[in-house]
Amino acid sequence: MSTVLAIESSCDETAVAVIKRNEGKVSLLTSLVSSQIEIHRQFGGVVPEVACRNHSQRIAPLIEQALEEAQIELDEIDAFVGTQGPGLASSLLVGFSYAKALAVANGKPFYGINHMEGHLLSPFLSQGFIPPHLALIVSGGHTMLIDVQGYQKYTLFGRTLDDAAGEAFDKVGRMLSLPYPGGPEIEKRAHQGNPSSFKFPRALLKDSSLNFSFSGLKTSVLYEVQRNQNWRDQLDDLCASFQTAVIDCLVGKTVKALSETNHQRISLSGGVACNKALQSALLEQSRRLGCVLEVAPPALTTDNAGMIAFAGLLAFENRSGDPLCKGIDPNWALGE
Ligand code: KG4
Ligand code: ZN
Repeated sequence: MSTVLAIESSCDETAVAVIKRNEGKVSLLTSLVSSQIEIHRQFGGVVPEVACRNHSQRIAPLIEQALEEAQIELDEIDAFVGTQGPGLASSLLVGFSYAKALAVANGKPFYGINHMEGHLLSPFLSQGFIPPHLALIVSGGHTMLIDVQGYQKYTLFGRTLDDAAGEAFDKVGRMLSLPYPGGPEIEKRAHQGNPSSFKFPRALLKDSSLNFSFSGLKTSVLYEVQRNQNWRDQLDDLCASFQTAVIDCLVGKTVKALSETNHQRISLSGGVACNKALQSALLEQSRRLGCVLEVAPPALTTDNAGMIAFAGLLAFENRSGDPLCKGIDPNWALGE
């Protein structure tokens, strides 16, 4: 039996989770997220110094609450893990240092976890192991297609050359005067809109690479808003047309990547994976191609420590990583 406590603080969510594997079966004993979205909403995006201060205030009580909910004592934890990167340096430092200190104080091992690996592994938490597959990770900071041959056997196939998919949702949300974060707001609006109303570009869709680009699409929405004085009357149609353009690019490149592998399985993770229209478009293509689609469960989609705990459990079981001597790594790339 192994029990791991994880801390995630790479951006604006302070999160703590405790995970256990007993006779092969993985259980998430608790996964708490203390969100700062309401605080950052007034600034229209995340303010690093404000995020860091809030992490520092929230971390200790959240750990206490997590231990209580998991009904576990600190000395029953076998390893402590913290998100090492990528993310905001000042935010990462809080959770990473706290997890390290807990490990040292309790004489247990420490592992630094890649936040994107946490997202990548999140659809497989309940299965407890990582099958070979093609992973599409779509978050606020990253958009990646990764060939996964197994645990820690990752090859980057494609990534965004400019804005991440979630970042495009957030920036377009701001242009359309919608609250932060833009993704869920745009999805709600898009539901009532006509996706063919505006002809927005699908950058790189026809090119041979597996990369993405969303900044031209974002600029097209900006031009429409500047040109069309009545855009507020067509807000739902604008959202639907923008969202469909993003989805066409994500799904188109995933299908292309799949044709370059023998994979029969696709995974979808990261905050944008919450988007139901993206899920159903990818499910339709997966069925057409005879593939299984594994979508991260909602609680493990936007930032959380459950996914970091699962990655930490696998790191501990595989004794993978170089425990205490490393610091945070805000630009840690996955699979390159
Ligand atoms: O994975 P995540 O919590 O943070 C990062 O690691 O970046 O992703 C947050 C992103 C935000 O950009 C947010 O707008 C987007 O996920 N998001 C969505 C939806 N829910 C969250 N995007 C589109 N549709 C949604 N329903
Ligand atoms: Zn994330």
